[in-house]
Amino acid sequence: MKEQTIQLNLSPERKPKPQSEELGFGKIFTDHMFIMDYTEGQGWHDPRIVPYQPISLDPACMIFHYGQTVFEGLKAYLTEDNRVLLFRPQKNFERLNRSNERLCIPPVDEEFALEALKQLISVEKDWIPNAEGTSLYIRPFIISTEPFLGVAPSSRYKFMIILSPVGAYYKEGIHPVKILVESEFVRAVAGGTGEAKTAGNYASSLKAQEIADGKGYTQVLWLDGLEKKYIEEVGSMNVFFKINGEIVTPALNGSILEGVTRNSVIELLKSWDLPVTERRLAMEEIREAYKSGQLEEAFGTGTAAVISPIGELLWNDEKMIINEGTTGPIAKKLYSTITGIQNGKEQDPFNWTVE
Ligand code: COI
Repeated sequence: MKEQTIQLNLSPERKPKPQSEELGFGKIFTDHMFIMDYTEGQGWHDPRIVPYQPISLDPACMIFHYGQTVFEGLKAYLTEDNRVLLFRPQKNFERLNRSNERLCIPPVDEEFALEALKQLISVEKDWIPNAEGTSLYIRPFIISTEPFLGVAPSSRYKFMIILSPVGAYYKEGIHPVKILVESEFVRAVAGGTGEAKTAGNYASSLKAQEIADGKGYTQVLWLDGLEKKYIEEVGSMNVFFKINGEIVTPALNGSILEGVTRNSVIELLKSWDLPVTERRLAMEEIREAYKSGQLEEAFGTGTAAVISPIGELLWNDEKMIINEGTTGPIAKKLYSTITGIQNGKEQDPFNWTVE
């Protein structure tokens, strides 16, 4: 695979670039995309960079019926001296292959995928916004394309990478959100697909999200699928709580997605000599900590928003206002350090960025 050269078919037309105020999240796409195909017996083949365009698929393609698909999300940043930085991209391609393994999709060559991404970004460099809080969101994904209605792994796939210039996930950069603790629906169960980044996990989260939205809450806090007692994730992010000085995040248990930002937060907190623990965390413990005044901070972590502080939790009829509904000092420091490393304004002691 590594020896294959990537064919370049550049678009004769270029779309106008958006102003930074027009950037939302994931609505605007660049001029080109990367695509390669998989055919059983032949492996991955025909890697190419082509004009961004709709793709034509047989309505019987397996992706439409059984959801055999995986995706990733990462970002590229333009530094003040015009360099392009990717944040820990190897971690995303490693996770893509772990998701592939779970969904019976053939693995991609991780080094080749990173090389393809670098080539695509070098073609699209002018699309990387440089205003505060903006970046180029990268969406690699694989779909099953064999036209067949039997339930089995597909014999054909497409691996694609599309790019979208994005603004800050929240206009204010980082602001506390209201979260409803979800007591009916669950996101994933141990042994299911919660550890994989696959579409079904997100499709099945929509109902709870819709109900929370109708009640004026931004996201839901997911509890475990068995007892509905233990905290798993918040919305589509990992979650951290600071309880009486200890910073706790739910331990990876087979149903929680292993976030790249989650891992970076743990590494940073350790490097600051702060006590950070990965362990089972019951919702009841959060309630007790709140009642005794020991619930100091709560925040979500993910690529899209980086750090998303939680200002309020509603569990059944009990409302918990955290840190008086404001952003706590740990969340603030993590946000400025991680975004600073990402856009090249801060030292990168871990060598996380890739030019
Ligand atoms: C992230 O936090 O980066 C996510 O997983 C959200 C993404 C699916 C839009």
